Amino acid sequence: MFCSVRHVSFGALREMEISKRLKSIPPYVFAEIGKKRQAAIARGVDVIDLGIGAPDQPTPKHIVDAMHEAVNNPVNHKYPPFGGTPEFRKAVAEWCQTRFGYSLDPNNEVTSLIGSKEGIHNLIMAFVDQGDVCLIPDPAYPVYRTSTILAGGTPHFMPLTPERDFIPDLDAIPPAVADKATIMFLNYPNNPTAGVADLAFFEQAVAFAKKHDILLCHDLAYSEMTFDGYKAPSIFEIPGAKEIAIELHSLSKTYNMTGWRVGFAIGNPMAVKALAQIKGNIDTDVFGAVQAAAIAAFKGPVDDILRCNKLYEERRDLAIAELTKLGWHLKPNKATFYMWIPVPKGTNSNDFCNRMLDEAGILVPPGTAYGPSCGEGYFRISLCTGKERLKEAFDRMAKHSITFEPAKAKV
Ligand code: MLT
Repeated sequence: MFCSVRHVSFGALREMEISKRLKSIPPYVFAEIGKKRQAAIARGVDVIDLGIGAPDQPTPKHIVDAMHEAVNNPVNHKYPPFGGTPEFRKAVAEWCQTRFGYSLDPNNEVTSLIGSKEGIHNLIMAFVDQGDVCLIPDPAYPVYRTSTILAGGTPHFMPLTPERDFIPDLDAIPPAVADKATIMFLNYPNNPTAGVADLAFFEQAVAFAKKHDILLCHDLAYSEMTFDGYKAPSIFEIPGAKEIAIELHSLSKTYNMTGWRVGFAIGNPMAVKALAQIKGNIDTDVFGAVQAAAIAAFKGPVDDILRCNKLYEERRDLAIAELTKLGWHLKPNKATFYMWIPVPKGTNSNDFCNRMLDEAGILVPPGTAYGPSCGEGYFRISLCTGKERLKEAFDRMAKHSITFEPAKAKV
């Protein structure tokens, strides 16, 4: 009987048609890169993974301890309240007050997220209808683009180029497009370019969003990962930004909590309410014990954040020194554990990343995974690997003559 059930189910699967919606987007970049990694490991390659941005350091002990305690509390064995526990929302508001100096109403201007990836998707589902336009940086975190397409919307790409320090030129957006736009996504400190934005740009973006009646979504997942004395601002440091903006935060990178799936959205009460309402129909919020651990993170010491930033800074400096020897000219990034690097002349992003894996056993994502146009000609490395292993990666590049300028032919 088992056999016939399995047979039927396999047969049905074979005939199953996925939706046009799903067919309209590619598989998630890191799911694909993960498969490449596994295949290389299966071939016996000692892979150095400079792919996904996943902190290699553990979650700080005081956060893990808070989780242990909360797991033992039966209150947390039940469904958590929709939108986050009152304690979680209050702790978010207090953290923002301390960190950025503004006040938030924890009841109407804060909601919990199962990580900011989920928040991006659901925000789009809450606001974007068939045919609506979303203003999306190119390159950018792929979820802005794919979820817009899933919602039936149309991305309008805002190029991020080194000439403009990876800041979009808002004046270059045709007014007719801006008037049709529903959401504009910004993300500073930026993934994948590591660019940073100042308050003057945020002021311009807020004015633009107000003029064209656009919801401005600022993704601030890397707020605390900054170096050389740089401090990243929040969009709500701009007076009046709350009238049109929502900001997404994640504990993943700040507290080495990628696997815990917890973040929060703050800002415009209507946008926060819409996001919470759509989420209430789809998920049942963050595990209560994880919210308790997040509160410990907000209230705890910042030593671990500073220690990790120092590690990333050292790795960045090592990478720049080694890549300089290989012919690259790179400016040190002020934030994020990413480096956005041009591929050598005469090659393209995909071919270069394949070469890195096939010849040197180094896994890096191609720029095209982040941006259809401006991502071409780039690859990204994440600095989530210890210095020794990182050095080995650059040694392997040298050994395989993977340099920025093609080696000169001998005469
Ligand atoms: C990245 O590496 O771009 C992201 O951190 C991956 C993710 O959040 O899925």
